[in-house]
Amino acid sequence: MKSHSIGVFDSGFGGLTVLKEITTRLPEYDYIYLGDNARAPYGCRSFETVYKYTLQAVNWLFNKGCFLIILACNTASAKALRTIQQKDLPAIAPNRRVLGVIRPVTEIIGTLSSSGHIGILATAGTVKSNSYLLETAKSFPNVTITQQACPLLVPLIENNEFDNEGAAFFINKYLSELLQKDQLIDTIILGCTHYPLIINGIKAVLPSHIKVISQGTIVAESLDDYLRRHPEIENQLGKNHKRSFFTTDTSEMFNDLAELFYGENIFSEHAEMEM
Ligand code: DGL
Repeated sequence: MKSHSIGVFDSGFGGLTVLKEITTRLPEYDYIYLGDNARAPYGCRSFETVYKYTLQAVNWLFNKGCFLIILACNTASAKALRTIQQKDLPAIAPNRRVLGVIRPVTEIIGTLSSSGHIGILATAGTVKSNSYLLETAKSFPNVTITQQACPLLVPLIENNEFDNEGAAFFINKYLSELLQKDQLIDTIILGCTHYPLIINGIKAVLPSHIKVISQGTIVAESLDDYLRRHPEIENQLGKNHKRSFFTTDTSEMFNDLAELFYGENIFSEHAEMEM
């Protein structure tokens, strides 16, 4: 039955940067985006809380008819994905799938750098989970990953204060700390879905030999490849170019800022969820 959607979930707005890349590459499918804005940010929350909120969102998206869900949030991918895939999915929806945004990056991470030294900018939660380190070690054991938590960047971006001197101060501070830890870094990965909005500010303070990579295009390529390799999933998906947007906060609040992340006007609906 080709009528199911692809669900894309984030704690709030950031996943829209990933959805943008996915819909650019795979425009024909139907997508339902859910942002848990009422409980964002996730980056500073415990494993238990992020897992609980993410599982609730996954169930919500399954009830809305999604057959495949992308956790377009590094923090949720780091803290909740594994348990959901291994423990919850077999019980709640054994034929459906939930994927994240960290594995697509770590599967190719070794091809992105010449020096083999890579920096990851992420939320404190993603850094603490060590997911990038652990996943990279499986595919590219010789690559050195150095992480940098950037706790103030999400609030600056969400408050539309990312293009000024205050933001530049913190971008500079976090990058200096990262490069002090490993001077051989030649590639920096934006391991948080919000950071593509400040990619120019990041590039502006880095020496020109350091590449900056955002994960949206990598995730989109990986999803394309996944759907080609999994016809049993692909066959379930509707191809009517539909896009629906939901937020756990008010739709007015979401619509106001969403354009900044998605590059287009968005008309969202409120998602009713037990808080
Ligand atoms: N979307 C989250 C991530 O990619 C950042 C925002 C948050 O902390 O909730 O890690």
